[in-house]
Amino acid sequence: STEQKADSVLALMTLGEKVGQMVLYNGSWDVTGPATGTDDRKKLEKLKKGHVGGMLNVTSAANTREAQRLVMENSRLKIPLIFGYDVIHGYRTMFPVPLGESASWDLELMQKTARVAAREAAAAGINWTFAPMMDVSRDARWGRIMEGAGEDPYLNAVIAVARIRGFQGDDLSAANTIAACAKHFAGYGFAEAGRDYNTVNIGEHELHNTILPPFRAAADAGVATFMSAFNDLDGIPASADRKLQREILKDTWNWKGFNVSDWGAIAELIPHGVAADKVQATGLAVRAGIDMDMEGGAYEEALVQLVEEHKIPENLIDDAVKRILRVKFDLGLFDDPYRYCNEETEKQELYSSENRQVALEAAKKSIVLLKNNGNILPLGNNIRNIAVIGPLAGDKDSPLGNWRAQAEANSAVSVLEGIRNHAPESCEITYAKGADLAAGTRNFLSPLDINDEDTSGFAEAVSLARKADAVILVVGEDAFQSGEGRSQADIGFAGVQQQLADAVTEANKNTVMVLMNGRPMDITDSAGKVKGLLESWFLGSEHGNAVGEVLFGKYNPSGRLPVSFPRHVGQEPLYYNRKSTGRPEGGEQVTYSHYTDVANDALFPFGFGLSYTHFAYGNIQLNRDSFTTGGTIMASVTVTNTGKMAGEEVVQLYLHDEVASITRPVKMLKAFEKIHLEPGEARTVDFVIDEDMISFYTINRKWEAEPGRFRLYIGSSSAETDATSFEFRSE
Ligand code: IFM
Repeated sequence: STEQKADSVLALMTLGEKVGQMVLYNGSWDVTGPATGTDDRKKLEKLKKGHVGGMLNVTSAANTREAQRLVMENSRLKIPLIFGYDVIHGYRTMFPVPLGESASWDLELMQKTARVAAREAAAAGINWTFAPMMDVSRDARWGRIMEGAGEDPYLNAVIAVARIRGFQGDDLSAANTIAACAKHFAGYGFAEAGRDYNTVNIGEHELHNTILPPFRAAADAGVATFMSAFNDLDGIPASADRKLQREILKDTWNWKGFNVSDWGAIAELIPHGVAADKVQATGLAVRAGIDMDMEGGAYEEALVQLVEEHKIPENLIDDAVKRILRVKFDLGLFDDPYRYCNEETEKQELYSSENRQVALEAAKKSIVLLKNNGNILPLGNNIRNIAVIGPLAGDKDSPLGNWRAQAEANSAVSVLEGIRNHAPESCEITYAKGADLAAGTRNFLSPLDINDEDTSGFAEAVSLARKADAVILVVGEDAFQSGEGRSQADIGFAGVQQQLADAVTEANKNTVMVLMNGRPMDITDSAGKVKGLLESWFLGSEHGNAVGEVLFGKYNPSGRLPVSFPRHVGQEPLYYNRKSTGRPEGGEQVTYSHYTDVANDALFPFGFGLSYTHFAYGNIQLNRDSFTTGGTIMASVTVTNTGKMAGEEVVQLYLHDEVASITRPVKMLKAFEKIHLEPGEARTVDFVIDEDMISFYTINRKWEAEPGRFRLYIGSSSAETDATSFEFRSE
């Protein structure tokens, strides 16, 4: 068994070799050439000695083969390296950014895109992705909200599992599957005020009921690795949090994979102020249960000495190394260390037309139609003239989003191109950029240079808008406005986009705004002025074609928001599954929980999205109105497509626990089903309600179902108000 194999390798290892397995190096130099810098030379020597467990950011079959060769041909025990990389929404072919793709609510689709991403990455020598991120995130100011599945724990959990299945497949040792990573454990999405890496203060119940469920689901689904978060949680940095990393994850959940730190997060225990130096930081992290140090230099510097001085028991090291070895065995690396390095497959697999097809399917299904006054969309065949306007309209790069792995710059289909590809032949398309958004170097690390003043392009844009039957206005964010280290205090339009939108909507009332962005934005003002509004996120390689298909009615939009869009940034964090408070809305005079200058609710709520057709919901039918331990209730609802076009609806089930031992959210998503209905077709959707669905981390500090009444909503968004109720009685 893998267990015995890992034991037999472990038995041969020296302490130095064991600690080496716990070190993950960044491939900061070209591994096929000589290492020139001192740091790189040191890394090279360590690789040859077999004192490195894995590398990140070494890509391509040729480069990973070379790095692996250094280990296989020089080290004593020839323990293969594992190669990690941020394959977040594709490797070369780009799929929608995770938040965008989550708007599809299509689990099969998300499994499929992760599968394709894994195939491409694996063909390029990668066998480990740092994905999926499953941090529940409710603050649009946080730039990394683009990387997860939004504000809901249940949606995050089921999507995380789908993505893990996609990456890992049924057999991790197959040459086209890769190990996944559940990140960031835990609480990273709750960074105070949405500022990245900031402190997190949440109570035990919130941790268990909101943040941990996706991670628990990932552990149960057999995710191969976890990553510790950068933040502190109630005063303890995640990488030093023994309760979280060892007791909950490894002991209580009985999870067998290995736990890597985030980049430098162990050494960052020093600036966090809980360790004086790397020795102390290493001690804290090892005891906490962090098995691998990502490019932090702490373990490699201090761990051997700590064990030799008996300050850290060697059995903790053995446990960590065994976990790492097991994953390497599972990946098949001991059978063939070069199994993922195949130049031929790499050539065939990357950016293949089949993969681009999947990217198009995912892109279409991720678009959310937010407004469609007077059914301005889809644009009809008789349209004669469309003005395409906006700084992002012709942009072939921003659709690739942040965390774009090996996508080629400027390789996406722009919205302008997509419109040209899909508009009726007789329709004239004119284009004006109107304004610039970002200038200068644009990449993962560089600060963005937003062009915030130049309005010289407005005149041309307005003149085209005046002459057109309809305007497609493409505005939003530059690709690098959201992502790691990209928090914003202002989530409105950067630069002069708002003024451009004002000028264009003034010039032509038939304006459809296409938003391109990685986070909910404050669009209250312009959403009121445009007739149509499409949320297109960063949709990846096929962005423009997907938008084109939706604008011209070749695809009926079916996306639903995985996150609330605020009326104002001051509402953030904003989420539908909030608590009631003791003074809920509807109170008297002013002394209830509200803002005096803006409504409490979202501009566009979680779960919301329109279609070109209409879906009518019948009443909820329950096969009984109460159940007891071990029993179930079946809830059914009939949904009818009453419009003229085939379409997809996401039927969503929400619960409210009326009285519980702790305060509970006003609504909680507990199940959903995406269905396709032809015009006139009706379908009955059944949901099973059981004890599992109503269980939570109670005042007794354990998961259990409490007796009582529950309100049940089934509808097309979290704003559904029609409800029925049932009772649970424990026996
Ligand atoms: O995987 C990422 C993580 O999400 C943020 N810090 C860097 C890691 C590796 O690139």
